[in-house]
Amino acid sequence: MNAIAATLISTARLNLVPLTVDHAAEMAAVLADPGLYTFTGGAPPTSEELQARYERWAAGSPEPAVSWCNWVIELRADRCLAGTVQATISTADELAAEIAWVVGSPWQGRGIATEAAGALVPWLGRQSVRTVVAHIHPGHAASAAVAAAAGLSPTGELQDGEQRWRLRLGP
Ligand SMILES: CC(C)(COP(=O)(O)OP(=O)(O)OC[C@H]1O[C@@H](n2cnc3c(N)ncnc32)[C@H](O)[C@@H]1OP(=O)(O)O)[C@@H](O)C(=O)NCCC(=O)NCCS
Repeated sequence: MNAIAATLISTARLNLVPLTVDHAAEMAAVLADPGLYTFTGGAPPTSEELQARYERWAAGSPEPAVSWCNWVIELRADRCLAGTVQATISTADELAAEIAWVVGSPWQGRGIATEAAGALVPWLGRQSVRTVVAHIHPGHAASAAVAAAAGLSPTGELQDGEQRWRLRLGP
């Protein structure tokens, strides 16, 4: 598979901007609330840790059949970053993507994750992705609502305590 690269995605309020190392310092502030990690585990990264993480992401997946696509969520009106969305795209006999999202605590509850995921899924369809999955903690109502609004449905399958959600795109 040729690597798939993130491209700019614009919605009514948001620019989903392909993530670069230069976003690390502002994103460290966006991701600073320990409450963000209640369901996913982990802790707020320092700016240096985030820079190292984003450098790894920019280098790309070591597996040739896997593309790492990451975006920062930019609020156009405020010219600030509010979170990230990501898609890990892999091919077996067709393309499949695992997606995830995070919105910083000060920006939550305004439909930002719903708007971002709702644009990410059709972008994946335009890249010929056929299956979209997300793994969501069963107690995480906000994330489940984001997945449902993006068209995914719960499968009932559990992996590491998280439920798999899935959407089939195209035939
Ligand atoms: C999940 C997350 C991205 C949602 O971001 P958000 O921008 O606040 O989401 P939205 O404003 O688009 O709201 C999505 C839905 O969740 C609902 N919601 C928001 N906060 C909620 C809460 N605390 N409890 C229950 N539902 C909630 C909203 O009402 C909305 O539902 P609706 O469309 O039926 O009205 C955000 O909570 C987050 O980043 N959490 C930490 C990281 C994480 O766990 N990521 C998910 C990994 S899969």
